[in-house]
Amino acid sequence: MKKAVFRLTLALLAILFVSCNNKSEEYIDPRGTDYAGSESCIQCHKVQSEMAFKSSHFKATAPAILGNVSGDFDSKNHTFIYDKDTKLVMEKDGDSLYQVLYKNGKETARYKFEIVFGTKHAQTSVYWKNNNTYELPVSFYHSINNWATSPGFPADKPYFDRMVVKDCYACHSSNISSRALNQSSADRNFMSMEVEDVVDKKTIVYGIDCERCHGPAKKHVEFHLKNPNVKVANNITSFKTLSREQKLDACALCHAGNDGMKLKSRFDFKPGDHLSDYFRETRSINDTTQFDVHGNQFRLMAQSKCFANSQKMDCITCHNPHENASKSMASYSKICMSCHQGLQHNETTLKIMPEKLMASNCIECHMPKKSSNAISFQLSNSKQLSNYILRTHKIGIYPNAKK
Ligand code: HEC
Ligand code: HEC
Ligand code: HEC
Ligand code: HEC
Ligand code: HEC
Ligand code: HEC
Ligand code: HEC
Repeated sequence: MKKAVFRLTLALLAILFVSCNNKSEEYIDPRGTDYAGSESCIQCHKVQSEMAFKSSHFKATAPAILGNVSGDFDSKNHTFIYDKDTKLVMEKDGDSLYQVLYKNGKETARYKFEIVFGTKHAQTSVYWKNNNTYELPVSFYHSINNWATSPGFPADKPYFDRMVVKDCYACHSSNISSRALNQSSADRNFMSMEVEDVVDKKTIVYGIDCERCHGPAKKHVEFHLKNPNVKVANNITSFKTLSREQKLDACALCHAGNDGMKLKSRFDFKPGDHLSDYFRETRSINDTTQFDVHGNQFRLMAQSKCFANSQKMDCITCHNPHENASKSMASYSKICMSCHQGLQHNETTLKIMPEKLMASNCIECHMPKKSSNAISFQLSNSKQLSNYILRTHKIGIYPNAKK
């Protein structure tokens, strides 16, 4: 009898094992069966895929494995000093990275880097605790090539209790948690401290992937695999057919600040949707608010005459959605001049810069770099706040921009 039970168990285990194995061959997207995953796009869209996989969008969140984490872990620049007895050290242990707290030379706690946010200007990281993620108190900043306090964190004592709410992931990832949880009232009201969602690690789709911008594409993939001779796109929203407002909304979803009253989760947004169904607009069109240069490219751009009077400028006018922002200022100037032909600057301006040089420097004067008021940081042993600097998207006349 016992033998029979044993054999049966073995047989069941074998079946389970085989079926698990079969499953792992087929990609299952945490968002559901409508999604195909970015890997599936490469075979037909090599150009877009190769660009996009390298972009900041795809790296907006990533698992904190060695190659993904910026910063120094083992030479001089890996210690943040809070006071003479307290320091935080960035340490590598095998393949894992930690922020280790020392009091009077003794280790008192260690927090593992689990997920990183950002690559371009700064990178902040989170650790897991009780099925939620918490921000590590020290972040890496490329402008100083060093560690400093995470935005809003104190420089005189370590702080480990800031939960990174789902809202951060809604702009920095393609999925987290279940859909049902996304629509919970907690998600709608992220400012309230009652956010107690339990985050399921397995449901995270890191970064902003193809289907985050293009919508679920499983049917599109299946159709074109079955019909290789059809060259017209099926079962996918074409940006070409969208109105200007719809195109802008697809970027403004994450590039228009975070102060709107939320009606629906950002995760539910699909291209073609209207942002006004997701956020209750509290601002009038003629708003003169000074928007922050961080995370609010849309509203700043919307305040410029180029945007309002051209009736056609959108984000794609200057950016390839699959590529990082170009670093060539001359390439943007060409775009400016496509609308501003035969332009004449006055004598005073031409004294600052001769016309020849102007032709490739429109950006320096008309989209100058500005400090963010929302983000600042402090270096170890410093009382001074350092500024986070980005270019403004409010194209305009800034008489003091280039002197
Ligand atoms: C088996 C081939 C195949 C696969 C796989 C595939 N596509 Fe396509 N896709 C096409 C074809 C064919 C077109 C139409 C020609 C073109 O625009 O390249 C197209 C067009 C598109 C367009 C442009 C639509 C338009 O009209 O503007 C988008 C966006 C797109 N695909 C997204 C994706 C995404 C995202 C994936 C992966 C999830 C994907 N495709 C996977 C074949 C494929
Ligand atoms: C789901 C949210 C989301 C959407 C939708 C989105 N972005 Fe972004 N975008 C981000 C985040 C987050 C970053 C910062 C990524 C980082 O550096 O880690 C970013 C970065 C960028 C950058 C800077 C990249 C670099 O390194 O130079 C550009 C340019 C950009 N986005 C343009 C666009 C455009 C254009 C659209 C619409 C077609 C768009 N974004 C849609 C979230 C989004
Ligand atoms: C940040 C949002 C965003 C991401 C991420 C993104 N796309 Fe796009 N994609 C767009 C937009 C916007 C357009 C329309 C561009 C235009 O009209 O010039 C577009 C256009 C396309 C087209 C039509 C041809 C073209 O290049 O204009 C294809 C094909 C495509 N995307 C495939 C992909 C694939 C595959 C991925 C992932 C590897 C991807 N996209 C990731 C926003 C995005
Ligand atoms: C409304 C969308 C939105 C939300 C919510 C949001 N971010 Fe961002 N974040 C962005 C965009 C867009 C950028 C890049 C462009 C910029 O700085 O203007 C960015 C940039 C960053 C960067 C710098 C990335 C780089 O490559 O330089 C970090 C780090 C970051 N965010 C972390 C977070 C964290 C942590 C949270 C939650 C507390 C959060 N963000 C919430 C949209 C958002
Ligand atoms: C799609 C067309 C278009 C593009 C691209 C464009 N502009 Fe404009 N721009 C306009 C229009 C239209 C006006 C308003 C002219 C008017 O009403 O007199 C304008 C106005 C301006 C003004 C006057 C602003 C003011 O507040 O008085 C400046 C400066 C300017 N543009 C610079 C630039 C620069 C620099 C670029 C490139 C970064 C650029 N524009 C790109 C269409 C465009
Ligand atoms: C008239 C041209 C123009 C338009 C239109 C435009 N951008 Fe940009 N964008 C730029 C320039 C120039 C930069 C700065 C590149 C640099 O300094 O390396 C930039 C940088 C960015 C960055 C990176 C920020 C940073 O400093 O690293 C983001 C994010 C971005 N743009 C998003 C958007 C979004 C979203 C839209 C539409 C709402 C948009 N842009 C429309 C010209 C433009
Ligand atoms: C050295 C800084 C500087 C550079 C570079 C520069 N501008 Fe200007 N621009 C100004 C200033 C200052 C004004 C206002 C006084 C004037 O018209 O000369 C101005 C005015 C303008 C106006 C408004 C003119 C009007 O009649 O209302 C436009 C449009 C403009 N610039 C576009 C551009 C474009 C396009 C480029 C690149 C080819 C460019 N600017 C390069 C500083 C600059």
